[in-house]
Amino acid sequence: MYPSILIRKKFLDYFKKNNHQIVNSSSLIPENDPTLLFTNAGMVQFKNILTGVEESNLKRVATSQKCIRAGGKHNDLDNVGYTLRHHTFFEMLGNFSFGDYFKEEAIFYAWELLTKEFEVDKKKLLITFFSEDSVTGNIWKKITGFGKDKIISVKSKDNFWSMGEIGPCGPCTEIFYDYGEKFNGSVSRKGITGDRYVEIWNLVFMEFNQIEKNKRINLLKKSVDTGMGLERISALLQNTNDNYQTDIFKETINLITKLSKSENKNSENLSERIIADHIRASCHLISDGVLPSNEGRGYVLRRIMRRGMRHAHILGCSEPVFYKLAPLIINEMGDIFPELKRAETLIIETLKNEENRFKQTIDRGLKILNDEIKKTKNKKLSGNTAFLLYDTYGFPLDLTQDILKDLNISVDLKTFEKKNGRTKKESKTCMERIWRC
Ligand code: ALA
Repeated sequence: MYPSILIRKKFLDYFKKNNHQIVNSSSLIPENDPTLLFTNAGMVQFKNILTGVEESNLKRVATSQKCIRAGGKHNDLDNVGYTLRHHTFFEMLGNFSFGDYFKEEAIFYAWELLTKEFEVDKKKLLITFFSEDSVTGNIWKKITGFGKDKIISVKSKDNFWSMGEIGPCGPCTEIFYDYGEKFNGSVSRKGITGDRYVEIWNLVFMEFNQIEKNKRINLLKKSVDTGMGLERISALLQNTNDNYQTDIFKETINLITKLSKSENKNSENLSERIIADHIRASCHLISDGVLPSNEGRGYVLRRIMRRGMRHAHILGCSEPVFYKLAPLIINEMGDIFPELKRAETLIIETLKNEENRFKQTIDRGLKILNDEIKKTKNKKLSGNTAFLLYDTYGFPLDLTQDILKDLNISVDLKTFEKKNGRTKKESKTCMERIWRC
């Protein structure tokens, strides 16, 4: 077995050997960047170097960056638990060149690391590249010897990466692993989809800066930004297609099973997967200074926590469990991210308070929702009910939507938003909202 701790180390060592400086992960809260809610990729801490706003001596860098994808342009929240490979929090392994090497070396490094150092079977790999970037297609051909069936020219935006609505961007090329015919999947010029093929590594060739919605300028220096999820490469190297079966999640899942006395072991259970993901995100967000609230980052954290806590409820946990899971996460990740250790008390207290508070309202809220579901016509829940759940019972809208998802019921958002807008004004003077303070 290839432990994830060794995979992270091997990645960083490989790039160190190739003259890259190893830089620590930055906070999940982007510094001086009002355009982003959370650090959603390794390049975020280098954005100003890429755009030329900041002078820097850095030329080649490698990192293992903490990322959150639970809001904004890159949002995986709705997929978490439903797939075996999406997360709200994950670690992105990445190498960067700022005006130094470009396509040829970036592709060479990725290929060498995967196939020689990690010894991934070449036959299982496929490549996509942006259809307007034939240079990249030709480099792949030269390096791999693959034909067009394995180096796929893709016409869609999937092969053009940008960090947000504005910011550095460019064509990208992605490396996929084929988990075999027992899974569904398709390969076409529109891209690669399905569980059969898992995107392992994305190499972005930063050439442009999107400065407004419809305005893109050239970057002064062509640069490289790559990202490989530690959780996905760990799954591959640990012979599974399920990130939750890796050493990264195994102990957490075992503890959830134990605490909830649930029968389903080994991440077969949606609830266990969601809790395992959301507890990590919650610990890391709190350690970076985010606290649950009803606005901005704090609200995203609250949504993540309460989604997870609802699943603990589904598993039959009558007492709060999130704070009992936190020490395990802190113990497992605290050497790499010491801020977790420093914030241990805050993390535990915050989780305990939030779960206690949510427990006061969740039963009543669920009862109201279930009664309404029975009455619901046209597969639409009334906006008034969704709003009552939100405003009085502490059910973030997306939690209600998540519960309704399997029943194919949507929410009347128009009414919800109308009531929400009105109440936001009124709530300044209203002291009765149970979960707002
Ligand atoms: N920034 C690129 C990504 O996140 C590498 O996929």
